[in-house]
Amino acid sequence: MKKILVLILALTMMVGVASAELKVAFSQIGQESDWRTANTDDVKKAIVDAGWELIYDDAQQKQENQVKALRNFITQGVDYIVFTAIVTTGWDDVLAEVKEAEIPLILIDRLPETSFGNDDWYTCYFGGDFPFEGYKAGMWVKNYFESIGHKGDINIVRLSGTTGSDPQIGRTKGFDEVVAANPNMKIVYDQTGNFTRAEGQAVMEAALKAVPKIDVLWAENDDMALGAIEAIKAAGKVPGKDIIIIGCDAVKAAFEAIVAGEMNATSECTPLMGARVVEVIKGLEAGQTFDKVVHPVEYVYDMNGGIVIDDDGNVSLKAADHINERLY
Ligand code: AHR
Repeated sequence: MKKILVLILALTMMVGVASAELKVAFSQIGQESDWRTANTDDVKKAIVDAGWELIYDDAQQKQENQVKALRNFITQGVDYIVFTAIVTTGWDDVLAEVKEAEIPLILIDRLPETSFGNDDWYTCYFGGDFPFEGYKAGMWVKNYFESIGHKGDINIVRLSGTTGSDPQIGRTKGFDEVVAANPNMKIVYDQTGNFTRAEGQAVMEAALKAVPKIDVLWAENDDMALGAIEAIKAAGKVPGKDIIIIGCDAVKAAFEAIVAGEMNATSECTPLMGARVVEVIKGLEAGQTFDKVVHPVEYVYDMNGGIVIDDDGNVSLKAADHINERLY
């Protein structure tokens, strides 16, 4: 009997009962887009599949709800906090409390700013390189118009993401770098659509009334581009032809719109972060450290491929060749 008990104890230690008891909390911003749904599902599933207890909070697009959730996680004594910050600023107090509670903070998707003067308040960050995503979108527009022999101005409507969020700030900055270097690229209308289809459609309706000639729609996510397509059709124009449309995210619905000829390109941002979260938690449990900031490799997909999208001469990929591998 004693032998059996010793054996059970040894086996239990081998499978790591301590890690099966981990409480992992995840503060998500809301469910504004297809991308966000895929991100939420992927991260939640990875945590549950790892055998850990998941404590999930959906902040419904409100920073104050995220602050409450983080405080709640501290009170519950969770082992890890996975956090996506809706906007970049305004987190100093609550993140100082997380640090004080010595709960390792894993940042995904959006990197908040603090005034702590160092980066020891978080373990590591995994998410898109937003300035580069915007830069590649700008380069795609410039080089696509060159490829069709377009001369003269390119009038661009921008539907920006949630104001003050990391992807809005980064993608705007990256795209504007290309605009600054190419005076024929003109932003003629610039409004937030808050990363949602409904607002993308409403803002595009207003842009179509306000601007007589629109050559390009640059939407800082695909959902806004897809909403805008409806507004363009309702205005009697042909999306993808009368107005060239580039989005961001590379979700399946954007691939479908590109293949259908109603959208032209999308700059990828991957929502698949669950595997990285699990890798980091397992590593931290084993005493490993991680690079502070890691970005996934991301592409630009379009109708035919072959458009130069960066300074190294990398080119866009043809969406039709990749649509079947896209699961979200
Ligand atoms: O932070 C990533 C962005 O947020 C995605 O581009 C967008 O679709 C989402 O809502």
